[in-house]
Amino acid sequence: MSAPQPADLSAAAWEQRYQQGRTAWDLGQPAPALQRWVSRQPAPLPAAAIVLGAGRGYDALLLAGQGFQVTAVDFAPSAIAALAQQAEAAQLPLSLRQQDIFTLVPDLAGQFDYVVEHTCFCALDPSLRSAYAQLVADLLTPGGELVGVFFTHNRQGCPPFGITPGDLQAIFRPYFKVLELQPVTVSVPARAGEEHFLRLQRRQDTSGSGD
Ligand SMILES: C[S@@+](CC[C@H](N)C(=O)[O-])C[C@H]1O[C@@H](n2cnc3c(N)ncnc32)[C@H](O)[C@@H]1O
Repeated sequence: MSAPQPADLSAAAWEQRYQQGRTAWDLGQPAPALQRWVSRQPAPLPAAAIVLGAGRGYDALLLAGQGFQVTAVDFAPSAIAALAQQAEAAQLPLSLRQQDIFTLVPDLAGQFDYVVEHTCFCALDPSLRSAYAQLVADLLTPGGELVGVFFTHNRQGCPPFGITPGDLQAIFRPYFKVLELQPVTVSVPARAGEEHFLRLQRRQDTSGSGD
């Protein structure tokens, strides 16, 4: 029996998934855990937030509707086009970027109070995880936060690529302190028991080992 082919994670392949309607990840609504965080979060507004791999943008629209100044990034043109349409219909001002997230720095370095993550990290090749942690640290102001929902299932050979809570902490430890890491209790049924909510604060000194 031949080994399964690795998934194509290029921009062209993601665009093709949108064009062919193969978008099983698309909830058609914001992540419930992010909705809950937004309804509780005590951050002074306005605050600048960036949503990575925003897709059609339900999470970005949620934040914009709450008064965040939102930048949403995705390298699939169809995703950005759908988000632009929704933003216009809702009359919400968002800054949209059709761009690979790994090219955001140095242009946008240090500009955000929040980086928001929902099913972008799990869509990246696991070899890019350290680069992702570095990217998030670079995008944030000192003291800024990463707020996200992460797949913590242990299935092999996806995407969505899962990660253990321990590995999550290890990847971000060089730059961040953990404010919150807990299983999501408000997942949509298909994701129940497979998600963790993570909130991290960028440390002022990110040159060390994270100890
Ligand atoms: C699983 S989808 C999730 C989309 C959205 N967050 C949601 O929950 O509906 C992953 C998204 O990340 C985008 N993406 C993956 N790698 C990316 C990269 N390196 N730069 C920008 N976007 C990327 C894909 O185009 C896709 O829209």
